[in-house]
Amino acid sequence: MTASASLATELAPLYAEHLAILQRRADEALARGGFDHLLVPSGSLHYQVFDDRDYAYAVNPQFKAWLPLTRLPYSWLVYTPGQRPKVIYFQPFDYWHVVPDAPAGWWVDHFDIHIIRKPEEALALLPTASARCAILGEPQSALGAYTPNNPEAVIQYLEYQRSFKTAYEIRLMREAQRLAVRGHRAAEAAFRQGRGEFAINMAYCAAVEQDANELPYGNIIALNEHGAVLHYMELDRQAPATSRSFLIDAGASFHGYASDITRSYAADAGSEFQALIDAVDGVQLQLAQAVRAGVDYKQLHIDAHLQLMGVLKDFGVITVSPEAALASGVSAAFFPHGLGHQIGLQVHDVAGFAASDRGGRIERPAGHPYLRMTRVLEPGMVVTIEPGLYFIDMLLNEVKQNGHGDSVDWSRVDHFRPYGGIRIEDEVLCTEGDAVNLTRPAFAEA
Ligand code: GLY
Ligand code: MN
Ligand code: MN
Repeated sequence: MTASASLATELAPLYAEHLAILQRRADEALARGGFDHLLVPSGSLHYQVFDDRDYAYAVNPQFKAWLPLTRLPYSWLVYTPGQRPKVIYFQPFDYWHVVPDAPAGWWVDHFDIHIIRKPEEALALLPTASARCAILGEPQSALGAYTPNNPEAVIQYLEYQRSFKTAYEIRLMREAQRLAVRGHRAAEAAFRQGRGEFAINMAYCAAVEQDANELPYGNIIALNEHGAVLHYMELDRQAPATSRSFLIDAGASFHGYASDITRSYAADAGSEFQALIDAVDGVQLQLAQAVRAGVDYKQLHIDAHLQLMGVLKDFGVITVSPEAALASGVSAAFFPHGLGHQIGLQVHDVAGFAASDRGGRIERPAGHPYLRMTRVLEPGMVVTIEPGLYFIDMLLNEVKQNGHGDSVDWSRVDHFRPYGGIRIEDEVLCTEGDAVNLTRPAFAEA
């Protein structure tokens, strides 16, 4: 059996269970919203302004939650409680483009499948009472009377429940890890050969066999000082004269599920910067192990600040205690983003602030405007753990302006500035017991 056939065999029973869970969730969501049918359009192509070129198609996440189909615009998922779900499958007659293959895979046995050749042919196949439908999608997916209404009660319930990954989803997410790690290995090798950012990115994409349209987010490939730009996406064509450091934040997609992995490297294994990377790695491992049911992710984010400031204290970069650095805002200058976020169908998965499946919002702690996850961890959640330390002049100047210049040894900042920054990012599954790191085993296997 080929690897993909054996994966499909493994996925078939997991998918059956996944689908049963989705149906139960949909039953409850529809009951809460007072609807009889769930309709999910897969989405349409969007054109660039004053042009006949379309943007890369991005499937409706509510659609790919049900089906491992990420390149099937103008299609519909139709679910009515108690009935077999239906897929309206758009397979046009088109000689300009490659059309979607005939339906195949581990999902087909569970659906009534109707092939359509034109988007409007879906009309005859949708439930007749359009007002009784919860339709989840973007406005451009409107078809006749079927305009996405995105009922809040339905969305809130489904998005909240999506935090609890099924075994099927975890399996796909593990594959997304494996793919990305292949790219990370190739990228590290290219860095060690002295290649530039553009070439390193090419090495990554070739190893993963995905390009910008398929990857779950834009790769961050940053050499030297560029590591201090949090979302550095420039890709210098020219290799630098000297490559001192490399920060890579890059993931992969697998049947609609994302991975999001960051690693940091020093060219010189004996350098102090390598020692700083190792220290951040130690903090990251500790935080990842702390992922368990009942832990408040907000608190974990604060713990990350304290631990990272402990590292900077040890390295002589700050002169005050971690607690003092946190209180004064100095720590936010060195660690200016959140500890992480949920991940799954979207790299920054939904409901990170949800207080309940009926709405409400858990606010971020004051002074931490970029944290994307404020919930208490529960079994089945997958979160990223991505602590980092950066040498960002704009933020360090603010430290001086705010009167906290004495908290920093500026000669140490000068020493580390040419290396940009460090981030280490893994995906971690919360269980009833110990944390399950999804990323580290993929590196160990590679
Ligand atoms: N790569 C985006 C993030 O780490 O959240
Ligand atoms: Mn992330
Ligand atoms: Mn990332």
